[in-house]
Amino acid sequence: MDDIKFGVIGTGNIANVVANAIEAVESASLLAVSSRTLSKAVSFVSERKTAIAVEGVDNLLKIPELDVVYVATPTATKEAIVFAAIAAGKHVLVEKPLPANAAVKRMIEAAKTAGVVLMDATHFVHHPRTEAIREAIPAKVGQPKSLHSAFYFPIEDKGDIRYDQELEPMGALGDMGWYAMRAVVEYLQPKGSLNKAASVAERDEETGAIKRMSGVIGFDSGESATFDFGYTSGTGIMDLNLIGTSGMIAMDDFVLDWHNSFVFQEADVKTGFTHRTHMASRKDFNFIETPAEKAADVIMIERFVALVKEQDVTALDQFADNAFKTQRLLDAIWEVTD
Ligand SMILES: NC(=O)c1ccc[n+]([C@@H]2O[C@H](COP(=O)([O-])OP(=O)(O)OC[C@H]3O[C@@H](n4cnc5c(N)ncnc54)[C@H](OP(=O)(O)O)[C@@H]3O)[C@@H](O)[C@H]2O)c1
Repeated sequence: MDDIKFGVIGTGNIANVVANAIEAVESASLLAVSSRTLSKAVSFVSERKTAIAVEGVDNLLKIPELDVVYVATPTATKEAIVFAAIAAGKHVLVEKPLPANAAVKRMIEAAKTAGVVLMDATHFVHHPRTEAIREAIPAKVGQPKSLHSAFYFPIEDKGDIRYDQELEPMGALGDMGWYAMRAVVEYLQPKGSLNKAASVAERDEETGAIKRMSGVIGFDSGESATFDFGYTSGTGIMDLNLIGTSGMIAMDDFVLDWHNSFVFQEADVKTGFTHRTHMASRKDFNFIETPAEKAADVIMIERFVALVKEQDVTALDQFADNAFKTQRLLDAIWEVTD
C-alpha cells in the first residue's frame, strides 16, 4: 500500500508538532495544510517538501488523494470539521479536548458507518510506558484505588486560545484536565460509574477563563481520583501517583516525558516509573525504565497509519471508548464547576 497521505487543518503550535511527526513516519506523508488565511498555510509549508498550501477546510477536503485529516484547531470548531471530514470519507485524527460527549458519541458512530478511523491525538497513551504500567499494575499496585495528578504548564499570554472562552469553553479543564482524566481511564480503570464530582476553579480576572482547578471524582465501584492543573504554577509539573492495595506507581513526567517529547529532549533523563511497596524509604524505591525508540507523537502517527491500513476493529473501539470516557469525565466536572 502507498503512503497514507495526511492533510493538516490549522497552522498553530500543535499543528507544527504533529506535521513534524507525520514527516518522521516512513509510511505517512504530509500532502496538504489548510488555513483560514492562505498566506499562513503557504508559510507553514515553506520548509516542508511534500505539502501544498490551501485556503479553508472545504478545499482541503476536496483533495481526492488525501486519506487522513488531522484537526488542530480550537475546540469550538472541531465538531463541524470532524463531521465534514467524515462525510468526505477521510480518516480523522483530532486534537483533544473533544466537543461535549453527546457529539463525541455521534462522531464515533458516524466514523463507524463511513468506515473511517477516528482517533484523538493524545500522545502519552502511545508511549510504551503506558502499556508497561498497565501490565505492571496487578503485580506492583494490586487493585488500583486512587489516582492523584498535578499537571501545570505556565501560560500567561492572554491572547492564547486557552484564555478565549468562545474557542476553548472549558479553558484549563479541557486543555490540562484532559490528561488528568485520560490517566484515570488508562491507569485507574474504574469499573463503576461516576457518583461524585467536585471542583474548585480559579478563573482569570481579565478573560473569565478557567486557569487553574483542583477537584475530586469518585466512582460507585470505590475508586477515587484527585486532580490539580492549570497555568499558574510558574513551573512545569506532570506528577502522577497511582495507589493501590499493595503499592504505588509514580511518575513526574506523565504527560510529556522528559527524555524525548515535543517540549523536552533530555538525553540523560530516563523514561519510566517509580514503584514503592511495604515500608520503603526513598533509597528503596525502584525505578523501572520504559525506553522508547521514538517520541510518543511519532508512535501515535505510526499507530494511526496501521489502523487505517489494517482497520483493527478492537483497537479502534478501544481508542474511541477511552476518548469517550475521558470526555465524559470532563463533562461531569464541567457540570459541577462554577
Ligand atoms: N495533543 C497535544 O499535545 C496538544 C498540545 C497543544 C494543544 N493541543 C490542542 O490543540 C488545539 C490547538 O491548540 P494550539 O496550541 O495549536 O492552538 P493555536 O496555536 O492557537 O493554533 C490553533 C489554530 O487553529 C486555527 N483556527 C481555526 N479556527 C480558528 C479560530 N476560530 N480561532 C483561532 N484559530 C483558529 C488557526 O489556524 P489558521 O489561522 O491557520 O486557520 C490556529 O493557528 C487545542 O484544542 C489544544 O488543546 C493539543
